Amino acid sequence: MKYEKVLHKNLETPGYTGSLADYERQGGYQAIRKALKEYAPTQLIDLVKRSGLRGRGGAGFPAGTKWDFLPKDPALTRYLCCNADESEPGTFKDRELIERDPHQLIEGMILAAYAIGAKVAYIYIRGEFVYGAQVLERALAEANRAGYLGKKILKSGTDIEIYLHRGAGAYICGEETALLESIEGKRGLPRNKPPFPAIHGLYGKPTVINNVETLSNLPHIVNRGVEWFTSIGSPPKSPGMRIFSVSGHVNRPGNYEVPMGITLRELIHEQAGGVLGNKKIKAIIPGGASAAFLTESSLDVKMDFESIAQVGSMLGSGGVTVMDEDTCMVSAALNLMEFFAHETCGKCSPCREGSSWLVQMMRRIEHGHGRMEDLDQLVRICNNIGGKTVCAFGDAEIAPILSTLKHWRSEYEYHIKEKKCLVGNRGGQLLTIGKH
Ligand SMILES: Cc1cc2nc3c(=O)[nH]c(=O)nc-3n(C[C@H](O)[C@H](O)[C@H](O)COP(=O)(O)O)c2cc1C
Repeated sequence: MKYEKVLHKNLETPGYTGSLADYERQGGYQAIRKALKEYAPTQLIDLVKRSGLRGRGGAGFPAGTKWDFLPKDPALTRYLCCNADESEPGTFKDRELIERDPHQLIEGMILAAYAIGAKVAYIYIRGEFVYGAQVLERALAEANRAGYLGKKILKSGTDIEIYLHRGAGAYICGEETALLESIEGKRGLPRNKPPFPAIHGLYGKPTVINNVETLSNLPHIVNRGVEWFTSIGSPPKSPGMRIFSVSGHVNRPGNYEVPMGITLRELIHEQAGGVLGNKKIKAIIPGGASAAFLTESSLDVKMDFESIAQVGSMLGSGGVTVMDEDTCMVSAALNLMEFFAHETCGKCSPCREGSSWLVQMMRRIEHGHGRMEDLDQLVRICNNIGGKTVCAFGDAEIAPILSTLKHWRSEYEYHIKEKKCLVGNRGGQLLTIGKH
């Protein structure tokens, strides 16, 4: 099925370059004009609350509600940060939005900054996105020259500056409080919460952090209204469109913008062109490497926050990785565990120590030196990490092992008993997406 594109509309328009002139020709920067004229900042917060827009970075927290947590005292300095770290393996949607339609994001940020009263905003971009950073620098300069940014934007009484901050390439810096530490020039380690960033964020000031895709939705919500937004997707809890990055054993890997709530089957078989070589699907990761693996029996699950949670996984960052029947589940889980062990920031002992123990045991099993008692030991270590760390990294890193053990324990047992793999050994190759 074909769907009307919203966030991808411009970049699917022939000849669209992402320049300011192209963006304006497509109706760009009308939303901020409208907002400045028609909405006081509190009314804009209310509009976004009523739209039900939920964060697209991972946790799915309602954006307007998050904004409303900020203290009301207008004299307090506050900040907006755009999370453009996009470090979740299998996820590449924000990168495309940045590279091909930077002004859509910038307009979304101006709207968010206006709503929360932030005069200064930052885009924290993953260090490896060199081209994306160049595109954004160019677009920010254009927006400044045209009066969309700077002092008294569009001749209103509102000042908004946006700065680009390049990370050095660390998965943990996508976690919102580590991101704040990194902007402050410190090592990217997550902070204890509470206090939450809404109260004590960047430089100790009230701060909102939102994902690229979340912010890119805002111009459309302002232009087209709450009724339109709540009529698409999977309302009432998961309205709107969603961009899924589909990768792995599919014929057409790529980013697909579809209404929230289409089934995994439609996403994989219709949008992404089905499975390579017409093979059967063995496993699907529905929301980035931190999301639990699902089996083929979940193909008819709706891709919205609630439905995916009901089958024991999460929509997360929208990175969908498809694995065919020949994929070794032990190898796939080991591959992701190696990524997490490499990226642990080391702040919390369960994660720092546990991640390397898990890798050692998984390698042992994968290479035919495992022991049956290792399987229960893996679960014990995972349970001593999950929920016991400062940030959600701990919960993320145990998802691949726990879910593959739940659904494919027999494959682990086969590795241990037969000292070889039941299928090929392609899980490792398949999942080398992300930072290594
Ligand atoms: C280890 C870890 C890595 C994360 N990486 C990202 C990331 O790369 N991009 C992102 O938008 N959110 C990431 N998040 C989620 C952020 O902490 C935060 O929830 C999000 O940026 C909020 O924006 P949203 O409400 O618009 O989704 C990560 C979280 C954790 C625990």
